[in-house]
Amino acid sequence: MSLKTIVVQAGGGFDRVVVSTTEAREPGPGEVSVRLHASSLNYHDYAVVSGAWGPVEPRIPMSDGAGVVTAVGPGVTDLQVGDPVVSLFFPEWPDGEPGLAQGDFSRVPGDGIDGYARQAVTAPASAFTLAPKGWSHAEAATLTCAGLTAWYALFESGRIKPGDTVLTQGSGGVSVFALQFAKAAGATVIATTSSAAKAERLRELGADHVINYRDDPAWGETARKLTGGVGVDHVIELGGPGTLAQSMAAARIGGHVSIIGILTGLEGGMSVITAIARHLRLQGVLVGNRRHQLNMIRAVEANGIRPVIDSCYPLEDIVEAFRHQEANRHFGKICLEM
Ligand SMILES: NC(=O)c1ccc[n+]([C@@H]2O[C@H](COP(=O)([O-])OP(=O)(O)OC[C@H]3O[C@@H](n4cnc5c(N)ncnc54)[C@H](OP(=O)(O)O)[C@@H]3O)[C@@H](O)[C@H]2O)c1
Repeated sequence: MSLKTIVVQAGGGFDRVVVSTTEAREPGPGEVSVRLHASSLNYHDYAVVSGAWGPVEPRIPMSDGAGVVTAVGPGVTDLQVGDPVVSLFFPEWPDGEPGLAQGDFSRVPGDGIDGYARQAVTAPASAFTLAPKGWSHAEAATLTCAGLTAWYALFESGRIKPGDTVLTQGSGGVSVFALQFAKAAGATVIATTSSAAKAERLRELGADHVINYRDDPAWGETARKLTGGVGVDHVIELGGPGTLAQSMAAARIGGHVSIIGILTGLEGGMSVITAIARHLRLQGVLVGNRRHQLNMIRAVEANGIRPVIDSCYPLEDIVEAFRHQEANRHFGKICLEM
């Protein structure tokens, strides 16, 4: 059977995205076949497809995939035909500390290996977990990258407690999840955004304070003042070099700054003396492992958390979907449906 498949030609770029086909195949030992129904867009996928980090060879993009198991190969015991599943960002990181294979994107679907912008896939069963019960496939697809990154930063790395204060940046996929998770944990949330309309939506989702980072370049100092001068316990740091100084200014003595994003660039200086004098815990975060994903799914099921989906596009409109992301009009997640 021929399956509709999106391929980014070597080098990437929106003009090098083609709708193609791949052939379905039966699962071998340890593998499952999954009829994919949805994916979701991340900044990382944008970098691959737009050409910023274009692939060196033709690549099926997208790290996030959700669908239904249609066949299981010999030896697969934890998944059955009919199970709704969601993909893992690091299929080869089951648990514990990250290893060499998690030190880059060479084994990440949609980047170093083919991803989920296609109607079906046959892959190792270990590349999927069960999806949350009762969720749409689009909702489930939001968890692989954005959801798990926010979860890992706050719970696995940050050990967030009720009463903590969390600073989030912007209203994209990671930040909206971080806001929802932080509120579920009983934290106070200070959110930043560039838009008055998005500020209102962040408040509706539970943000206790919202700062417009365009109007207030010293938003980190402002966040600190909002805590009575103490500083926030956790920062979801998404901007990179252009935001790190204010993130550090916002953090309390001994505060936890999750270094996650690169929205303003890949490299830049930082005040080493501030990091030292303030006893900051600057923690690089790269998505998370299978165990973290299972923990997250248990938590969203128990707490009734549902992802915020901005919009869904048909698979073949993938470039239009990325142009929507690029224009920064979205709030939460943009999805693809197959
Ligand atoms: N390390 C990891 O594991 C990991 C995982 C996922 C994502 N990331 C990174 O995290 C970042 C966000 O990813 P995403 O998928 O959530 O992106 P996204 O959905 O495209 O959201 C980006 C949002 O960030 C806000 N923003 C843009 N420039 C900003 C700035 N200078 N300061 C503060 N906020 C700014 C905007 O919100 P407003 O419109 O509200 O201003 C924008 O909507 C990206 O750099 C991505 O590569 C890293």
